[in-house]
Amino acid sequence: MKILVTGGAGFIGSHTVVSLTEAGLTPVILDNFSNSNPEVLAGLEKILGFPVIFYEGDCNDPGIYNRIFTEHEIGGVIHFAACKAVGESMERPLMYYRNNLGSLMTLLTVMEQHQIRNLIFSSSCTVYGEPDTVPVTEQTPVKEASSVYGNTKQIGEEILRDVASVMPFSIISLRYFNPVGAHPSGLIGELPTGVPNNLVPFVTQTAAGIRESFTVFGNDYPTPDGTCIRDYIHVMDLAEAHVAALSHLMKVNQEKYYDVFNVGTGTGNSVLEVVNTFDRVNNLNVPHRFGPRRSGDVIAIWGNVDKSAGVLGWKARRSLADALKDAWNWQSRLPKP
Ligand code: WQD
Repeated sequence: MKILVTGGAGFIGSHTVVSLTEAGLTPVILDNFSNSNPEVLAGLEKILGFPVIFYEGDCNDPGIYNRIFTEHEIGGVIHFAACKAVGESMERPLMYYRNNLGSLMTLLTVMEQHQIRNLIFSSSCTVYGEPDTVPVTEQTPVKEASSVYGNTKQIGEEILRDVASVMPFSIISLRYFNPVGAHPSGLIGELPTGVPNNLVPFVTQTAAGIRESFTVFGNDYPTPDGTCIRDYIHVMDLAEAHVAALSHLMKVNQEKYYDVFNVGTGTGNSVLEVVNTFDRVNNLNVPHRFGPRRSGDVIAIWGNVDKSAGVLGWKARRSLADALKDAWNWQSRLPKP
């Protein structure tokens, strides 16, 4: 069965392409390289042993979807393609709403025209905002988004819930926690363009000497070691969750189906725990300093993942140490800029 993976040259998308193939499915990638790199396709070919079916195009273009759905019998779609920089989203709200929500509605329109009904939507734990209690379950109330990016995920989920209630779609939204790490081969991984926003690429680039040092954004939080807590999930576990979600849709085989699942490890780790684990497992000592809090940061969030385990039969099975080892293996194979 062929699965369209929009944004399939991206960090999570490319790792999901590997897991889809390992599950006997045939991925078809649509990507415009706006936040990814053509080298990823070469890395995928080395891992898989063959070139992945690829279309270069914009996820807002109905024509490219029509072309793909005409040329291939697509059994389902995983929609990763979106802009995802929290800070940028606050400076360019209209572009974020148009791109992230416009592409979703365009995709749904063309899917319906081609009677394709299975869709996995890439959502985010950011919809929970600063939760009152942790771990968060899928029933934890969604809070007012603290960024335009987060709001595009919240509104995206609402669009999908409403569409699936009256149209012949079968849809799952996966709420990712913090994806980290890389494929163990070191042939694909996280490749942020420019200065990284996220913690782990900043740590690995500092370890590689690309960055002088990195700043821990605040160590005066009401947490055991004063730094923020997150649920860091190995990107390969996250990739495998998409395969589990797809097979669940096939099993359910129902029109007008919509559900939401947390995809995390179920445990929280602090920024300092990440840094210390990274140093320990890679036998490094990454220079870092403590700086002021970063505005918009949530103090602590991690997921209750019982629903994914119970309904999808999926659980994360790699550790934070595995992810940080794989992240360093990937970074150290990259050519120095
Ligand atoms: C994690 C922790 C920082 C960098 C974001 C998005 C979320 C998802 C994942 C897309 C925080 C601290 C970071 C640094 C630091 N993205 N940090 N120094 O903010 O939890 O989530 O990325 O789906 O939607 O919101 O991830 O990696 O940016 O930060 O101390 O140089 O690391 O303050 O506590 P975040 P992050």
